[in-house]
Amino acid sequence: MQNRTMIEPFRIKSVEPIKVTTREERVKYLEAAKLNVFLLKAEDVLLDWLTDSGTGAMSSAQWAAVMLGDESYAGAKSYYKLKETLADITGMEHFIPTHQGRAAEKVLFGAVCKNGDLIPNNCHFDTTRANLEFLEVEAVDLVIPEGLQPDAIHPFKGNIDLGRVEDLLKNNGDRIPFGMLTITNNTGGGQPVSMANIREYSQLLKKYGKPLIMDVCRFSENAMFIKMREPGYENKTIREICREMFGYADGATMSAKKDALVNIGGFIVLRNDQWLDKVREMLILFEGFLTYGGMAGRDMEAMAVGLEEGMDEDYLRYRLRTAEYLGEKLETMGIGFVKPTGGHAVYIDAKSVLPNMPIEQYPAWALSCALYIEGGIRGVEIGSVMFGKRLTDGTETYHSMELVRLAFPRRMYTQSHFDFAAEAIGEVKASADKIRGVRITRQAKFLRHFTAEFEWV
Ligand code: F0G
Repeated sequence: MQNRTMIEPFRIKSVEPIKVTTREERVKYLEAAKLNVFLLKAEDVLLDWLTDSGTGAMSSAQWAAVMLGDESYAGAKSYYKLKETLADITGMEHFIPTHQGRAAEKVLFGAVCKNGDLIPNNCHFDTTRANLEFLEVEAVDLVIPEGLQPDAIHPFKGNIDLGRVEDLLKNNGDRIPFGMLTITNNTGGGQPVSMANIREYSQLLKKYGKPLIMDVCRFSENAMFIKMREPGYENKTIREICREMFGYADGATMSAKKDALVNIGGFIVLRNDQWLDKVREMLILFEGFLTYGGMAGRDMEAMAVGLEEGMDEDYLRYRLRTAEYLGEKLETMGIGFVKPTGGHAVYIDAKSVLPNMPIEQYPAWALSCALYIEGGIRGVEIGSVMFGKRLTDGTETYHSMELVRLAFPRRMYTQSHFDFAAEAIGEVKASADKIRGVRITRQAKFLRHFTAEFEWV
């Protein structure tokens, strides 16, 4: 079996047609969208790889579960079913349902953090950082140095740098209410964190009396990487690995739109009741009653099934192979990307395609426009538009990497879609000297990439 093509381990039961567009039409659509792919109509996109969040295909078992949804306001059966599933995987007693990941962040941070605090993390995702900064809490990224070098090969590039964490705990301990860890590390390339790193980080935090909160959007992908790469885990089941990972944490936030294989949903889980009253207050204030938060009963049913399907080993093997497959094709064309490929996405290094474009012209953003125009592919810039800032004096700060992320919805695209994408990306590289940079004409203060408007330089 080893040398054969890895097949998608599912059959297709229901299809959604893709509208075929021409290059000329796409130029028009992109200009109407102010050169921001977030502002395109989805129907004008051929391969929608903007995000793996909430975009996957639910299984027939999940759709069947939808019909079991108990929509009671309080005490719904669906809540208890999901609580039980989560307790089995995470070992945590308290389950707080929210409508998606950022709501879990808002509720937890709002309950626990105060102005002037500081949170260490391998890398904060954009919404996590924004939710902290909104509360005037400093979000500090401490991924290991390899995690910031697209070319550096390391099996666990999502690991947090424990030396720098300890410095921070020593010098700023009084400002740190808890430590965070994002698995997999989305911002750094969908890169996994090793079990050893999770364990040591948790012990280090414990030594200073600080809880560990994990951001676990892609925990089963992380577990599969541990199984494949970390000695001692090759014969463990994904469930066993997940239980051990969660065992080191005191709580977690999750956007269920990723590894729980649902289109909407999220939650907080907590091991003890230290913050529970405050968290529940915030939940009721912003999301909903304790037993549904921001979700319908049917969403919770689908999630309970999706969490289990997301831990299936055959599915996970195929899932990680998908990104690796596209990575191999890019490698043969001399296109740089974050190596090794992560779990849910391929992150193209825009500087390898546009080495001469000045940073002020946002090369990764410019590349995301070119991919849409040439191939109808929608990816997302993870660079200086997303993570840079315009300061009050009008100057700009820039991000250390200029990446375009192609994130793959789960169980949705087949191998020929990836072959097509590789061909289109190759054509973009071949005519890279014609790609124009962009300038921002309009932007918001927080999360500016979602709505910013641009013009060609
Ligand atoms: N944390 C991580 C690591 C994420 O990747 C995301 C979302 C969130 C938190 C927030 O969750 O969207 O449900 O509110 N990531 C998506 C992405 C949007 O495209 O990577 P949310």
